[in-house]
Amino acid sequence: MPKSRIMLDVLKGEAVFPPPLWMMRQAGRYLPEYRETRRRAGSFLDLCYDPDLAVEVTLQPIERFGFDASILFSDILVVPHALGRDVRFEEGRGPLLAPITAPEILALESKVFHVNLEPVYETVRRLRVKLPDETTLIGFCGAPWTVATYMIAGHGTPDQAPARLFAYREPVAFQHLLKVLADHSAAYLIRQIEAGADVVQIFDSWSGVLDDASFDLFCVQPVAEIVRQVRAVYPDVPIIGFPKGAGARYQTYRRKTGVTGLGIDWTVPLEAAKELQHSGAVQGNLDPLRLVAGGKALSDGVEAILKALGDGPLIFNLGHGITPETPIAHVEAMVKQVRSATR
Ligand code: CP3
Repeated sequence: MPKSRIMLDVLKGEAVFPPPLWMMRQAGRYLPEYRETRRRAGSFLDLCYDPDLAVEVTLQPIERFGFDASILFSDILVVPHALGRDVRFEEGRGPLLAPITAPEILALESKVFHVNLEPVYETVRRLRVKLPDETTLIGFCGAPWTVATYMIAGHGTPDQAPARLFAYREPVAFQHLLKVLADHSAAYLIRQIEAGADVVQIFDSWSGVLDDASFDLFCVQPVAEIVRQVRAVYPDVPIIGFPKGAGARYQTYRRKTGVTGLGIDWTVPLEAAKELQHSGAVQGNLDPLRLVAGGKALSDGVEAILKALGDGPLIFNLGHGITPETPIAHVEAMVKQVRSATR
C-alpha cells in the first residue's frame, strides 16, 4: 500500500495537515459532466449498473478537483433491488419502492444477490486500476435501519414515521428485516473490498429520528453486526460509520459498533467533535448550504473546522451530501482554502 494514501493514515489515528479532503455525493447533479453522462445512461439504476458509465462518473470529481478519496458511484438502494424488490428513481421525486409487508419480509431471500451486484464489483475493480495511486477508494452501503425506512415507506419521508410505526407493531418481522439487511450488506462490503475498495463507509442517514432503545436496537446493533462480519474477513480495512443526526450518541455509537472513523453531520458541535477525535478519526462536517452560499459563510465554516479539528485525525468533508444547486466555483474555493491552510 503506497504511503501516500493519506486518508488511510488519518484513519489509523494520525493527524495530517492539511487534512485529506473529499465530498459526500461528489459525483452528482451539480456537475455538468455528470448530467451529460446521466442523460446518456437512461435511468439512474442503469447508470449504477453500467461499469463503463459508473466508472466515468466516479472519476469526474477526481479529475476536476483532485480529491484525496473517490467514492464508488452507486446507491444504497441497490441492496434491496438486488434482493428482488422493485426500486425506481423518478426525476424530481427521489426513490420509489414497492412498500414491503411483514409476510414479504419473512419470505425475503435471493440466490442471485451477488450476481445482480456483479456490475458494481466490476466498477470497483476498474476504478482501482484507473485511479491515481494516492487516491483512496471508498466502497459503501446503507445501514440496515436507513435502507429499511425506504423499503417500508416506499419513499423518503421527513421523520420515518412509517418505519418507526412498523418496527413497534411488527417487531419480529422488523428484526428479521434488519438481520437480512445486515448479513447482505456485510457480504456486499466484503465483495467491494475484494474488488479493491480501501475503506468502506456505512451511511445511516436516518439515525437521528429514534429514541434511546430504538437507536440501540435498530442502528447500533445491526451496524455492529456488519462490522463484526467484515472484520472477520478483513480485520485491517477501515470502516467509517455515518450516523447522521446521532447527536449525543456519537461516542456510544463508535464504542458499540467498533467503526474506525466517524462521519459527523454539521450540527455536531466542534468541541464535541474534538472529544470524538480522542477515540479515532472524524470526517466532516461543513454545512452543505455554506458551500451553496459561498463567500464569507463558506470561508468562515472551513476555517472553524480546520482550527478546531486540524490538530487531530480529520478527514475534511461536508456534513451531508453536496446539493445540486452548488456552484462549482464554491467547491473550487473550498478545495483551495483547505489545501493551502497552514497551522
Ligand atoms: O457520494 C457519491 O458521489 C456516491 C454516490 C451516492 C449516491 N447516493 C448517488 C445518488 C451515494 C453514496 C449515495 C447514498 C445514498 N443514497 C444515501 C445516503 C446518504 C444520504 O444522502 O443521506 C441515501 C439516503 C440514498 C437514497 C437516495 N438516492 C435518495 C434519497 C435519492 C434522491 C435524492 C436526490 O438527491 O435526488 C437518491 C438518488 C441519487 N443517488 C442521486 C445520486 C447522484 C441523484 C439521482 C440522479 O442523478 O438522478
